Amino acid sequence: MRVLVVGGGGREHAICLKLAQSPKVEQLYCAPGNGGIAQVAQCVPLKATDVAGIVSWSRENAMDFVVVAPDDPLAMGLVDALEAAGIPAFGPRANAAIIEASKAFSKELMKRHHIPTARYETFTDLDQALAYIQTQGAPIVVKADGLALGKGVVVASTVEEAQQAAREMMEDKKFGESGAKVVIEECMTGPEVTVLAFADGNRVVPMPASQDHKRAYDGNCGPNTGGMGAISPPPQYTPALAQRCMEEIFQPTIQALKEEGRPFHGVLYFGLMLTPQGPKVVEYNARFGDPECQVVLSLLDSDLMDILLACTNGTLDKVDIRWKEEAGCVVVLASGGYPMAYQKGYPISGLEQAGQLAQVFHAGTSLDEAGRCVTSGGRVLGVTATAPTLAEAIEKAYAAAGCISFQDMHLRTDIGRAF
Ligand code: AMP
Ligand code: GLY
Repeated sequence: MRVLVVGGGGREHAICLKLAQSPKVEQLYCAPGNGGIAQVAQCVPLKATDVAGIVSWSRENAMDFVVVAPDDPLAMGLVDALEAAGIPAFGPRANAAIIEASKAFSKELMKRHHIPTARYETFTDLDQALAYIQTQGAPIVVKADGLALGKGVVVASTVEEAQQAAREMMEDKKFGESGAKVVIEECMTGPEVTVLAFADGNRVVPMPASQDHKRAYDGNCGPNTGGMGAISPPPQYTPALAQRCMEEIFQPTIQALKEEGRPFHGVLYFGLMLTPQGPKVVEYNARFGDPECQVVLSLLDSDLMDILLACTNGTLDKVDIRWKEEAGCVVVLASGGYPMAYQKGYPISGLEQAGQLAQVFHAGTSLDEAGRCVTSGGRVLGVTATAPTLAEAIEKAYAAAGCISFQDMHLRTDIGRAF
């Protein structure tokens, strides 16, 4: 098969690496890809959000299957557009991807179907939002309704901080139109766990759980990022909890979407908080999480292509999905300054040595004119290791990360040890 993967981060590198191992995949392309993906797939210089460009390129180049990995093109209807052009694609259609694209939609869905989540109210009027924050008190959480690269959420410890966040989103348009509507919700407490699940419209098959580290600095301090590292499986997520989540959250969600005429095909991401009252949904995403994907797919022992096809075709019950009995850890190496402003174009050294110890997924890299790998994004690399125990996987990932350097490189030193 001729397969195109849409996206160009660590997640897409992990997906491409698994697909390249499939006997079914003869030709692999990635749009736009990056400096590391170029080693396993042919990179196509098209933006992930160029819906028309990707559809016509896929048609002209006779793609048999397109895997849409990032949130924006899913929300923009790339899967719908590909299907309309007769090209089978992996990922939810826009009417199901809305579960991530609109927090207000996902909160209302959970309310209608009694899926446990934080109490909330939605606002389009700033004064009403400010008054609500005043009556609720702190701590309280303020979220932009739309997509904001994982950064449109403020967990405020004071009323003033929450009101300031609402003003920045609704009045100053810090996240553009994503913040025209805000969701203000109860602050939950407890460890956070991510469960990615394959979904075929009717069924959900959870992958091993993982745990992202969203804050920029050690000790879970600093601003929220797209994720600075992850482990799998998190020790807090016991088999009993997994069973409870399946019954109270995963099955009800896939069922709810189906009943409402929005069957979900793709990867459904459950961001969970294990609160004293039980597991609750923090957020849904309509795709593989990143960096969680890097560590979870490293544990997959089956052909990813077969699974992705089954998600699209509604035949997940027919595929064998096996996982290594191991643990994994990914440590993100980021550009100094991320998630705020950062420089690009710095040469990266030590990739080869690191590659002997662990799998180094490229997130924000590109090749310069001389063919050298240079930094080109906020999250630059995801150094991913698997081992029989979590402690060994963490040690291996850090040993490999220690080989790599570039100017102003920033990493957390407590991935897997912060909770
Ligand atoms: P989200 O983009 O909705 O996943 O939010 C980003 C992060 O903010 C989450 O991973 C949590 O750490 C935190 N967060 C979001 N909602 C809540 C909540 N209701 N209570 C406590 N923390 C939250
Ligand atoms: N790592 C969190 C996300 O992909 O949304």
